[in-house]
Amino acid sequence: MSSKRVITYGTWDLFHYGHYFLLKRAKSLGGQLYVGVSTDAMCFSKGKATILDENTRRQMIKELRFVDEVFFEYDMNQKVDDIEKYGIDIFVLGDDYAEKFPQMKEYAAVKEKCDIIYLPRTPEISSTDLKNRLANQMNMKKIL
Ligand code: CTP
Repeated sequence: MSSKRVITYGTWDLFHYGHYFLLKRAKSLGGQLYVGVSTDAMCFSKGKATILDENTRRQMIKELRFVDEVFFEYDMNQKVDDIEKYGIDIFVLGDDYAEKFPQMKEYAAVKEKCDIIYLPRTPEISSTDLKNRLANQMNMKKIL
């Protein structure tokens, strides 16, 4: 196995198979996988409500055998510090960020420090979609 260190970030709400495949592929790029979990406050600041709280979301990632280190992401500006702290070689994002990330202010500093790899998203699954499906089911129960 390569000795490269890989980092990735996410909310990981209602952990699903799209998350699982992303993390498995990220791990296969290197030897050590570091995963950031957005805090509840950070999600709130982005207008994103989660079903599971930050500790539960972190715990589910932590217990995956192929994840080596889990930490909270408190704000968007900590990425460069994390890359330095963990000696990261590869920064992984889903390809939904392929256009967005180069426009974000931390992009230049991240690119200077490590390689950036966009992995294709797994089609037809997202936390948002699961939340909508749960909400629809609950509404149906109210009607029936
Ligand atoms: N991801 C993926 N395939 C999916 C869903 C997510 O590869 N079907 C990846 C994202 O690209 C990201 C990581 O998983 O790199 C964490 O994504 P996150 O935003 O936490 O999950 P989503 O399901 O996309 O959540 P949301 O609907 O709230 O955006």
